[in-house]
Amino acid sequence: MSEDAAIGIHDLSFATAQFVLTHATLAAENGYDVAKYHAGIGQRSMSVPAADEDIVTMAAAAAAPVVARHGADRIRTVVFATETSVDQAKAAGIHVHSLLGLPSATRVVELKQACYAATAALQFAIGLVHRDRAQQVLVIASDVSKYELGSPGEATQGAAAVAMLVSADPALVRIEDPSGVYTADIMDFWRPNYRTTALVDGRESVSAYLQAVEGTWKDYTEQGGRALGEFGAFCYHQPFTKMAYKAHRHLLQHCGHNTGAGEIARFIGHTTTYNTEIGNSYTASMYLGLASLLDNADDLTGQAVGFLSYGSGSVAEFFAGTVVPGYRAHLRSEVHRAAIARRQDIDYAKYRELHERSFPADGADHPVERETAGPYRLAGLSGHKRIYEPR
Ligand code: CAA
Repeated sequence: MSEDAAIGIHDLSFATAQFVLTHATLAAENGYDVAKYHAGIGQRSMSVPAADEDIVTMAAAAAAPVVARHGADRIRTVVFATETSVDQAKAAGIHVHSLLGLPSATRVVELKQACYAATAALQFAIGLVHRDRAQQVLVIASDVSKYELGSPGEATQGAAAVAMLVSADPALVRIEDPSGVYTADIMDFWRPNYRTTALVDGRESVSAYLQAVEGTWKDYTEQGGRALGEFGAFCYHQPFTKMAYKAHRHLLQHCGHNTGAGEIARFIGHTTTYNTEIGNSYTASMYLGLASLLDNADDLTGQAVGFLSYGSGSVAEFFAGTVVPGYRAHLRSEVHRAAIARRQDIDYAKYRELHERSFPADGADHPVERETAGPYRLAGLSGHKRIYEPR
């Protein structure tokens, strides 16, 4: 792609939840050896939303600094990707649009395809900017990962939102053509409308993910993509950080490359720093991995990053991005680290109380206690409507 035509990620900001449950606390409660979590799945703690936090409050917290830095004049579209939507009809992004005071001359829409939707949002945003290079698109990925208490998935829960400003001449990462895409009808992970927790066939989901790695790579190669050796780093969807290691090993083996542990860590290690503390943030997870890579790796200028986005069900995409010269001046590394460090440690009882919470469905007024220290909060439910406010 010529530099004139470059479109990609101009700004990247994430937010996570108020509370944190460590895997040491979880292991002590459920009787597992904590090494299963730390070494086995590569997780040390998980973000847990406060009673007055959800995908909207995290999304607004992630996007506010992006709008503050760049203004809203050129943002004509907001695409909100989530699989933990708060309403079956209204796009969660409209609440964010309102909280951030974005202009009425904006289109706002919500996208869903499990953990893949943010990548669809990014690609659709690039298409819109191709049509009019003066416009910018605010892409937001926000999810709260929730499994049954005591289930194998419980240790992989987490919560975060990532906001990305997509524009021409991006300051961070140019997104390249082509993409390799892959769809297979599999019930590896799903959440029927009547459930608040996901259902998953754990083993099936891991092998479905690895199948998708092969499928996207095959299509990417057939579409004329880069050779494996051209990439300086790889950023995978991380339901748990060890999955990224499994996926990269699988890709290397598939391509007949060296699969030494050091070699794998060299290419993906920096992408897992944030996810190991935050847990699975579903559709935000791969982009949290990108934030982690940009914030923590040595200079990546000019390097190609391979992205593997996987969403159960399943849809996947492999694509490449190139890191833009001068990108470091635009990072939010300190704020990102502070968002993780400032979370309040909770004990198992508090975690369980939050996990089991739900609003009565009677349409009455249900105010929510003040817990979050974040900039936006869910004030309550009234007449079946969610009420949000700045804190
Ligand atoms: N010390 C060190 N390692 C240990 C250990 C110990 N004491 N005990 C176990 N381990 C290791 C195991 O050997 C295993 O490693 P390998 O995978 O390398 O073999 C690892 O820890 C996990 O152990 P188990 O397989 O016994 O764990 P489990 O069956 O209880 O759960 C899981 C694993 C099925 C992935 C479960 O976490 C799960 O269901 N997660 C949710 C689904 C998921 O994340 N799927 C991923 C693909 S789907 C996707 O990506 C979409 C999405 O976001 C959900």
